[in-house]
Parts: sequence; structure tokens; C-alpha cells
Amino acid sequence: MKMKNNENPKRYLVTAALPYANGPLHIGHIAGCYLPADIYVRFLRLAGKDVKFICGSDEHGMAITMRAKKEDTTPKAIVDKYDKLMKDAFAEFGITFDIYSRTSNALHHKTAQEFFLHLYNKGVFTEKETEQYYDEKAKQFLADRYIKGTCPKCGYNEAYGDQCEKCGSSLNPTDLINPISTLTGNSPTLRKTKNWYLPLGEYQRSLGDYIKSKKDSWKANVYGQCISWLNDGLQERAMTRDLDWGVKVPLKEAEGKVLYVWFDAPIGYISATKELLPNDWDVYWKSEDTVLIHFIGKDNIVFHCLIFPAMLMAHEQYILPTNVPANEFLNLEGRKISTSKNWAVWLHEYLEDFPNKQDELRYVLTSIAPETSDSEFTWKDFQSKVNNELVAILGNFINRVTTLINKYYEGYVPEINRKDNPELIDEISRAYQKSREFTLNYNFRQGLSSIMDLARFGNRFITAQEPWKRIKTEPESVKQILVDCLIISAHLGKLLIPYLPHSSDRIFSMLNLNPEDINERESIIPFGKQHKILEPSLLFEKIEDAEIEKQRLKLMNSSEKESNSGSINTIIPEVSFNDFEKMDLRTAVITAAEKVPKTDKLLKLSIDLGYEQRTIVSGIAEHYTPEEAIGQTVLIIANLAPRTIKGIESKGMILMAEENGKLSFMTTHKPFKGGAVVK
Ligand code: MF3
Ligand code: ZN
Repeated sequence: MKMKNNENPKRYLVTAALPYANGPLHIGHIAGCYLPADIYVRFLRLAGKDVKFICGSDEHGMAITMRAKKEDTTPKAIVDKYDKLMKDAFAEFGITFDIYSRTSNALHHKTAQEFFLHLYNKGVFTEKETEQYYDEKAKQFLADRYIKGTCPKCGYNEAYGDQCEKCGSSLNPTDLINPISTLTGNSPTLRKTKNWYLPLGEYQRSLGDYIKSKKDSWKANVYGQCISWLNDGLQERAMTRDLDWGVKVPLKEAEGKVLYVWFDAPIGYISATKELLPNDWDVYWKSEDTVLIHFIGKDNIVFHCLIFPAMLMAHEQYILPTNVPANEFLNLEGRKISTSKNWAVWLHEYLEDFPNKQDELRYVLTSIAPETSDSEFTWKDFQSKVNNELVAILGNFINRVTTLINKYYEGYVPEINRKDNPELIDEISRAYQKSREFTLNYNFRQGLSSIMDLARFGNRFITAQEPWKRIKTEPESVKQILVDCLIISAHLGKLLIPYLPHSSDRIFSMLNLNPEDINERESIIPFGKQHKILEPSLLFEKIEDAEIEKQRLKLMNSSEKESNSGSINTIIPEVSFNDFEKMDLRTAVITAAEKVPKTDKLLKLSIDLGYEQRTIVSGIAEHYTPEEAIGQTVLIIANLAPRTIKGIESKGMILMAEENGKLSFMTTHKPFKGGAVVK
């Protein structure tokens, strides 16, 4: 077990990364950051600790302005929309923030500006004039992402000012050959501009000492990343930007500039704490007996472990993060989760499609949490974890106990001279001890599985004791057995509060017990006429195949729509021969082809099926010119329901093979007429 930094802190301040208000939350966000944070906080609260749980929307930065541009609206409209969507989804899912604020709040702007000024007045920043690309027509400086051009390394002509997505090189905008402003299509000019930099190099020493002091208490993935940044040598970073969306830089000479989003966003934790506790927010931020924990995903490590601590050190009044238990990434059905490619399971949609099944998702996401390496969510696995673990182990045990107590004693807990069963006491205290250790060490997967072990034990116990056989001959022993099982159930309810709070509530109401009365050492279980439990009902339901199929289809269809390519690099589950036969596959000859106006990808094709002429719109314009397409014999799905694409009715779909993003027609080995059946 790793050591904790501060064994007996007075209070805990727990933050979860402020999500960008530029899109809905998906299961990757939840598994990586918000769910572990919520479990940890619920655990501390249950242990009677003073803890505040802070979050809110991150509403500045390029993520927002780019989304606004894409949706053809204003940044304000974007953040208003997604702030509400995320806040509601968190609440419905049961993430229990003490406050969910937003960085567009006036209090936040004021807090961030004061922080900046404090550093400015202490002479922390270096002022530097540099040349930046400027769009004369849009009258604005261009952020890296708004500049495209040819990559000097690989020649790809759609590289961005900060990175080439083809070869992965990280770039500066001035590295690009033939840079173009994506705002207007103009060639940008270079203009002088002044910005304020945080000289991280000056903190190399103190950050190094700080990080090294965490060697034994931080997760290896986080510690390792910090050390590698430190070894590379820390570079200064501009804390102001030439943009108009964000917190205004509070200096006369900085007109038209805003704070760098990674300067203002972490200060958002402070502003939100102020909003929550106007009078004593600073005890949480400025006294050494506070433990400060940041839950984040791995792409945020450098900001929380080096840049924000450098800001806090520079300020000199704040404590530093005690721990930053960052998770790795969660993949989905064999691919990286991607908001832009629409390859995601959205939290708000899950909550709609699976009402009252919050804990099913909490369970699965906790048991596959990417705690030490990337992990993967599949719908099949979701189904099997719900059916084979929640239903078959936990739900089954509670159900057996409540059913038998109802059946034998009409629901009244039998009165007995209880003898303590040492095996049982051991098993229960092991569950408390293990789940506590794992939870406090951010090892939530094992924390949950050590609780499930108690449910497994319960099932083994009741099976071995066979109360259903002994009820006739040994009624007194059966009373003892079932009271023992009831006690296990009550402890399960208690242990599950942080992990599966909704199910824990249901267990307590089924057992007609009060969570406060159930404790590791002493529990109050009333009996006789004073204590009647409820009629048995199922704690969890099985997830049917059809539901899983529906979700898989939804995922594939929505992602197809977005990418317009129809390629899915994942194995599709088997289909029956019957289903296969429903497809009418045929040869067809392309007789005419033209580009669909105002699109890059679409060709409108006329095809000859022998028995019929048709129009098909196909997303292949980047792979075939109209001239190349004409005359080709191709394979099509002839009975696909028609779709209207860019106002053109498309009947059928041309089959293409895909390799490394390149598409090729499937054609016949020998010359063929259109309309032949493919089987
Ligand atoms: N919005 C960032 C992201 O989603 C996280 C910001 S965390 C904060 O990656 F510390 F800056 F608030
Ligand atoms: Zn490149």
C-alpha cells in the first residue's frame, strides 16, 4: 500500500476537471474523472470527513470558439447550451458536486483577473513581443488551430498551426508552408504583438522537488509523465492570448487580449469554492491541513501537476495539490472515443435510454476504469457485467434473502439468540478494510470488487447452509442463517453507498433498515414485530440482447452519418443466414458520374442494373474522379431503403473496400453486366 501524504487532515478539497462546454459528456469523461471523484468524495463524507467537491463548466478557449464556428453560432450560445446539458446529466447520474459553477460567471472573471494582477505586480511574468499571424480581413490574430498549411515534415497540405494530423509532428504556425487562415481563406500576415509569459524554467527546481516528494504517493502513470516533462526542461508559456473570447487581461496595454484558457480554468476551482463558501473558501485553499485532490484525465496532467502548481507557488499564498490521481483513456468498441467523429456513448442519452439504471453504468465503468492503462467499453461487456455480476451475484443474493424471510416468517425478522459467527465477522470486516484501503488509494476497481466478494461469499454461504432443506427439521438454525444473511445484506448496502448509491438506497428500503444504524463494528438490526422487510423485488434486471443490438446500431449509424464514410474498424457481431439473405446484392455498371455541388466527398452516380436505371449518391469523390468512375462494374446493395442526401434521392449503396482510409470499388473478376445477383 502506498503512503498517504497527510494522515489526518482537517479537511478535503476535491476537484474534478472542469469539462469544456463544447459538447455533451461521454462515458470516457465519466470513467476517467467524474465517477472516481464522486466515489472518493462519497466515501469521505460517509467517514464523516469535512469535504468539498468542486466542479463547473470550462467555457473559454479554442474548444468553444471552434465549436461555435462549426455550429454557426456564438460562443455564448454554445456554452449556455452545453453547460446546462452537462449539469443536468451529472445530477441525474448522481455525481454529487457541492457546487457546479461556470467560468463565465462574473465572480470567476474577477478572481482570475486578481490572480493575474497579483502575479503581475510581483513581477512574475516576462513580457515578450513576438510575430503572430494576423488575418487582415477578419481583423484578428489567428490562434494556431485557425491556420492551415503544408506540413514541412511530410507535405500534408491540411496541417494545423500546432500539429500535423497526418504525421503527428507538433508545429508552430510559422513552420507551415503556404499558411492560410481558415476564417477567411486569406494568407495571413505576420504582426507584432505583446504577451505575458510564465517562465516555467524558473520553477524547474521547486517543481522538481515538489514532484519528487510525491514519488511514493502518486500513481505511477502521473508521476512518470511529470518526470519526463521535467527531464525535457520546462519552457516558458504565454499566459495571455490575442483572442476576444475569454477573461480580459486586466492591463491597459492588453486591449483585445484574454487570459490563456489554461491560466483561467484551474482558477475556476478557486472561484467556485468562493461561490460555495463566500466566508471561508480560503481555509480550503490556504491552510496546510487541507488535502487538495484533483481528479483529471491523463491529457490534463501537465496543467495540474506543473503549470497550476507553478502559478500557486508564484502566488505564494496557496497550498499545492496533494494528489492528482489521473486516469488513462477509455476506448469504445475498438476505437478511440471521438466527439467530432461521433464515436461515443453520451451520458445524457444513456440516462434516457436506460432510465433508473445509473448504477448499472456506475458498476461497469468502475470495473473497467482505465486506472493504470487504457481500457475498453463494449456493449456486450456491459451486458455481461450487468447480467453475470450485478444480477447474478449481488441482486441474486439480496433476492434470496428477502424471498426466504418473506416466505418463512411473513417478512418479520426472526427473533433469535444470536451467536456470532466468526467466519462471517471476518468476511465482513475484510470487506470494510479492503474497500477502505483501495478506495483511499484511488484503486476503485478493486475497491468495488472487494465489496462484490462479500456478495459472492453471501451466495456461497446460503447455498452451503441450504435453509430450504433444513426449514422442516431445524427451524432454529434456519432463523440463525437468515439473520446472518440479512446482516450481510445490510453491510453490503452500507459498503455500496459510495459506489452504487442508488442500489444501496434500494437495499436499505427493501430491508427496512437505516444506513446510519449499520456500522462496521456495531449494527442495530431490530427483529420480531418491530421489523418487517418488504416483499421481494428485483434489485437489477437483465439487459436483453435486443437492447444491446440497438445501442450498437445507434453507435454505428450516428458515427456513419458524421464521417460519411461508412467504415467501421470493428468486428461486427455474427448475423444469421436469414438476415444475410435479406440483402439484395447485385452487380451494377456506372454509366454517369458528377460531383455533388458544394461538397468535397460526394459523387452522384447513375447506375445500370439491367432491369432498372438508378441514382446513388456515394461518398467517394476523394477517391475517384467522375471520369474514373464511369464504366466501372461495381457491387451494390440494391434493396437498401432510399435516403435523401443533399436533396438527391439515393437508392442503394455501392460497396467499397477500405484500407488505410483509401476506398476502392469491389468489382468482378470477369466483365459483367449490371443486375447479376451476388451471393
Ligand atoms: N476543460 C479541460 C478539459 O476538458 C479541463 C480543465 S481543468 C481545469 O480538458 F483545471 F482547468 F479546470
Ligand atoms: Zn506532417
